[in-house]
Amino acid sequence: MAFGKKPAGAQPAAVPPPAPAAPKPAPKKAAAAVPKPAPVPKPAPKTDHEPVRRIEERSEQYYQTKMTIFNALIDTIDLSQLAQLDAESAREEIRDIVVEIIAIKNVVMSISEQEQLLDDICNDVLGYGPLEPLLARDDIADIMVNGADTTYIEVNGKIERTNIRFRDNAQLMNICQRIVSQVGRRVDESSPICDARLLDGSRVNVIAPPLAIDGPTLTIRKFKKDKLRLNDLVNFGSISPAGAEILRIIGHARCNILISGGTGSGKTTLLNCLTGFIEPGERVITCEDSAELQLQQPHVVRLETRPPNIEGSGAVSMRDLVKNCLRMRPERIIVGEVRGPEAFDLLQAMNTGHDGSMGTLHANSPREALSRVESMITMGGFSLPAKTIREMIVGSIDVVVQASRLRDGSRKIMCVTEVMGLEGDTIILQDILKYEIDGEDDKGKIKGAHRGTGIGRPRFWERASYYSLERDLARALDSLD
Ligand SMILES: Nc1ncnc2c1ncn2[C@@H]1O[C@H](COP(=O)(O)OP(=O)(O)OP(=O)(O)O)[C@@H](O)[C@H]1O
Ligand SMILES: [Mg+2]
Repeated sequence: MAFGKKPAGAQPAAVPPPAPAAPKPAPKKAAAAVPKPAPVPKPAPKTDHEPVRRIEERSEQYYQTKMTIFNALIDTIDLSQLAQLDAESAREEIRDIVVEIIAIKNVVMSISEQEQLLDDICNDVLGYGPLEPLLARDDIADIMVNGADTTYIEVNGKIERTNIRFRDNAQLMNICQRIVSQVGRRVDESSPICDARLLDGSRVNVIAPPLAIDGPTLTIRKFKKDKLRLNDLVNFGSISPAGAEILRIIGHARCNILISGGTGSGKTTLLNCLTGFIEPGERVITCEDSAELQLQQPHVVRLETRPPNIEGSGAVSMRDLVKNCLRMRPERIIVGEVRGPEAFDLLQAMNTGHDGSMGTLHANSPREALSRVESMITMGGFSLPAKTIREMIVGSIDVVVQASRLRDGSRKIMCVTEVMGLEGDTIILQDILKYEIDGEDDKGKIKGAHRGTGIGRPRFWERASYYSLERDLARALDSLD
């Protein structure tokens, strides 16, 4: 008998994965006691004519065959023994058994179909099932699974529907469970929201029923092994060469930078690029909700927040991290995403000798970014007059860089804006360069250019000259369109 096979007469395992708290259907009794709310009607699918990206096309009959073989496999193998094997041996073991089942059941299939089936079944039992082919691709930015039958991906800035589907919501939920249990978390009806990370660093969010009405919903921001560099952004046209040079000078001259942009607009990527200009000798501390930054410098301390545990305790917030940072003798502090009262501590840090600090935040323009900082501080319970907060903002943030994903899917740096000062109660901003849209070509691609605004001597000129960069700056400003 092959290792991993069940002894004859053993009970078939109900659920394939070895995840600790695999979601089980609610016990019948409980279901009877709690009246089930009326099911929310599912709107008629609007997606009939939506183009679908075919990924490893499979026929309906293939799914049927796979289901039969999969069920037979689950009846045959002993999952607890299988779990003790390393991935390679477990895969071998499953392959042997599946080949045997195919022979016994007299299933007719071509060699290539059989190979496909073996891969799919191994992925189902050991990996992330139908997600595997998507996870293996490096050109996908996001994977969005909206219940078992609907999966979208983002490729080249465009969201497309795929033909990837799960056996049912239970399989999808199982995979979600498997993902989050790797980082010691749990997702089920009682705690239906969960953030996690894949082993490769990809950022994961799961929201399960009853909160997600149409089935478990999984969102993955794929981790790019080869992070984009500023040069890549120039090649993609996200920024002009002169604009990139200005960003380099801003980074080198230790300006305090806020990167603003919408969801998925490329903020973290840009932040990562800007950290490339930090001197190797500097002590840098990064604070993130999910470690995404990849700094190249040797002296970096990486910190990550922690959500509360099941009992609701043990949370470590971004504010805790940023406050703690200040006791760690940082030279620069990098905050992955500023979204709450940590804004106050970051501004203070920027103000008190940690210049060259950076952070990102969600906003649609530099002005909105600064007013968001203001409201984060106000809502954080600091009872400071608006004017004082604005003075703090003006005294600490030097430059706001705005990122955006345009309607054709391209990502652009929309403007590099300086914070000039306060006039009365109003913060004065000055664009150094802007992306101006001139129209679109016949393929729907947006045409435009990064253009200077005629500023010859930005406010950070003094800083640039302190770092002997004023000539480079003058040249870069001159060569703006
Ligand atoms: N200029 C660019 N050109 C092409 N692709 C880009 C560009 N900038 C970022 N990307 C890609 O877009 C995706 C999203 O980027 P990123 O994570 O930086 O966005 P974000 O604004 O930080 O998103 P979120 O709001 O979810 O944190 C990534 O896959 C990244 O590689
Ligand atoms: Mg981000």
